[in-house]
Amino acid sequence: MSLIYVLNGPNLNLLGKRQPHIYGHETLADIEADCRHVALELGHDIRFHQSNREYEIIDWIHEAREDAAGIVINPAAFSHTSVALLDALNAFEQPVIEVHISNVHKREAFRHHSFVSQRADGVIAGLGTEGYQLAIRRLASLIKAAEKK
Ligand code: DQA
Repeated sequence: MSLIYVLNGPNLNLLGKRQPHIYGHETLADIEADCRHVALELGHDIRFHQSNREYEIIDWIHEAREDAAGIVINPAAFSHTSVALLDALNAFEQPVIEVHISNVHKREAFRHHSFVSQRADGVIAGLGTEGYQLAIRRLASLIKAAEKK
């Protein structure tokens, strides 16, 4: 059973309470349960983390270099600011899917650019919290395709 990391950036611990008209009513715990369910169905285990601290997310990406077959990441506001996250992901050799709950392209101009997108193998935005499950499905296909090579 290979391992998928699901990493979440700042303020996502407030999901369910934070601007529900933008981010919906599901909590991060609900998202984690959905991710576990889909991952299990596809034969993967997940490690699910959230932090408001950039260095902690970087440390998890480094950890993933040792034991993960892929990463799903919602870097939240760090998407738009963090070269350090991009560098960490560039040092990770397995597939990466970036997720945004909201459609960042429909929002303020500063959300239109993501450093992480430069590394991501795919980007999902605006599909709500369902985006996480779709990202895991895509990651599982990429992992399977890589195994066949
Ligand atoms: C977000 C979009 C970001 O612009 C924002 O800073 C977030 C959440 C999303 O999931 O839609 O915190 O990544």
